[in-house]
Amino acid sequence: MVPSQAILFFLFLYSFTAIATQSAHPAFDDSPFCTVTENAEELAGVSSTAPVEIEEHGNGRIIDITHAYRPDMPKFMSVDSLGKVVFLRESLANGSLANFSELKIGMHSGTHVDAPGHVFQEYYEAGFDVNTLDLDVLNGPALLVDVPRDKNITAEVMESLHIPRGVRRVLFRTLNTDRKLMWKKECDMSYVGFMKDGAQWLVDNTDIKLVGLDFLSVAAFDDLVPAHLVFLKSRDIILVEALKLDGVKPGIYSLHCLPLRLVGAEGSPIRCILIK
Ligand SMILES: *[C@@H]1O[C@H](CO)[C@@H](O)[C@H](O)[C@H]1NC(C)=O
Ligand SMILES: *[C@@H]1O[C@H](CO)[C@@H](O)[C@H](O)[C@H]1NC(C)=O
Ligand SMILES: *[C@@H]1O[C@H](CO)[C@@H](O)[C@H](O)[C@H]1NC(C)=O
Repeated sequence: MVPSQAILFFLFLYSFTAIATQSAHPAFDDSPFCTVTENAEELAGVSSTAPVEIEEHGNGRIIDITHAYRPDMPKFMSVDSLGKVVFLRESLANGSLANFSELKIGMHSGTHVDAPGHVFQEYYEAGFDVNTLDLDVLNGPALLVDVPRDKNITAEVMESLHIPRGVRRVLFRTLNTDRKLMWKKECDMSYVGFMKDGAQWLVDNTDIKLVGLDFLSVAAFDDLVPAHLVFLKSRDIILVEALKLDGVKPGIYSLHCLPLRLVGAEGSPIRCILIK
């Protein structure tokens, strides 16, 4: 089989297994819906175990491809890291009823999505914000591909990937993942991304409507604005940036991405997961 036929076959297989497993939904088990506890300590819910950050959910069935918003993660075009984004405003320690924090974060920080208003003034004014993004594009079968490590994503590179028509969501893993750029404190502007001609090739020759990449911008710095303009002009392509694709096998997954419904925002932090 040539690679494109193989991918189509797996897409077919994917939809078949999705239908086949629908009857016994894994979210439902036979345990009681809600258990009653009469133990006072349990009711208070205080536990001495330290919290752990979960990287693998459901025995590896669910892969979190979102970066945690760490203060020491890189901030785009800055030598400074992202810094503190969660601020404790009220605290149990000083007599408040609860701990209460506020979030203050740039919309294009960490794993995030771009709306058309990001690079088009007329779209910004017309209200094409993150609240207008199509959840049907942000959720569904997606292909994770490795791109050649020695180039930015040009038309030639796009062509060489042989992504068949009908594939609507693609996550591009690049040298950025190998170089662990999202784990550095400082933003490295030599990251890999789309060149303008690569973006144009994708628009003209594929059915891709969701473009995901493993650094803070899908566009290489040399073509930062031109490549964004090509992608966002039609308003039907959604860009998801700074995905955490470390250690994930290439292939087809069920992608689920949910941005915040921030009215008037041209970008938003987004939680993305892959389900095997
Ligand atoms: C309450 O506690 C928080 C965090 O400990 C602190 O930042 C804040 O200034 C305190 N507020 C008052 C009124 O003491
Ligand atoms: C929440 O309140 C507890 C008890 O006052 C305090 O020890 C803890 O530091 C607070 N949480 C945070 C995130 O500051
Ligand atoms: C990709 O382009 C950037 C400039 O935007 C450059 O610094 C980098 O070396 C290029 N990477 C590769 C692998 O060609």
